[in-house]
Amino acid sequence: MTAQIIDGKALSRRLRVGFRERVERLKERGVAPGLAVILVGDNPASRVYVGNKIKACEECGVRSLHVGLAVDVSEAEVLATIQRLNDDGSIHGILVQLPLPPHIQIARVLEAISVHKDVDGFHLYNVGALVTGTSIFPPCTPYGVQLLLDTTGIDVAGKNVVVVGASNIVGKPMGLMLLQREATVTICHARTRDLAQHTILADILIVAAGKPGLIVPQMVKEGAIVIDVGINRLPDGRIVGDVCFDEVKKKAAWITPVPGGVGPMTVTMLIENTLRSAERAFKAADEDEFQEWEAPIVKSP
Ligand code: GUN
Repeated sequence: MTAQIIDGKALSRRLRVGFRERVERLKERGVAPGLAVILVGDNPASRVYVGNKIKACEECGVRSLHVGLAVDVSEAEVLATIQRLNDDGSIHGILVQLPLPPHIQIARVLEAISVHKDVDGFHLYNVGALVTGTSIFPPCTPYGVQLLLDTTGIDVAGKNVVVVGASNIVGKPMGLMLLQREATVTICHARTRDLAQHTILADILIVAAGKPGLIVPQMVKEGAIVIDVGINRLPDGRIVGDVCFDEVKKKAAWITPVPGGVGPMTVTMLIENTLRSAERAFKAADEDEFQEWEAPIVKSP
């Protein structure tokens, strides 16, 4: 068997065409969607990620505001910056690039972002709402993975899904979103004993561990769908995922490449969330306030 490639770059391109049309419709109604990206310090990887987000905004016609803060900025100053952006009606999405310097408490910063502008989906409200399937903004990477899975045409209900990696950004929300779709979910992590005994049972294997070469063919069930969330730079400069792509591709039915799989989808879903926020703001302008509990993204069974 040779796996079919799940092409995240192509899907992103198609989605972004639709985004440009949504931006035009919003602009006709007097709303110019805007995303604010806060970067504290100058971590090289974060700079690249932020650059990609700004570029995607430009491509889709979304206005972006890059707020660069010094590495020694106080937590109070970060919170005050977020408050200003919360109050700014021309901004529909606010994102604080992680990680933050150790003197700033991530939890405080994430809770300061208005739930209605939390396009990363990291606010406790949006995290908690994933449990009940009512989150306004699903976190971008798992959201992108969900759309990539949809392109295979395979229903996840009843499937064994194994997620490798239990981070707040990918592994945990991914598990919750697929549980909502009635998959049987196992989440493995760094302390899991005998990883292979879990992964071998996976109809759908999602790997977000940040360890190149972690998943070898012996750990993969024949005909599985394999989604590689890892992005690792090798000493020779090559970018690879967590899965031994060339070998596992011979066993899987579907597989995402790295680069060109999950990566482009993460940024694309950020734009999706920003547009949804602008559309909600337009709708809410007619009403007194936001309907806190409206529009579940992941429907309850
Ligand atoms: N750092 C690594 N991934 C992410 C992400 O998806 N959003 C933010 N804000 N920071 C990150």
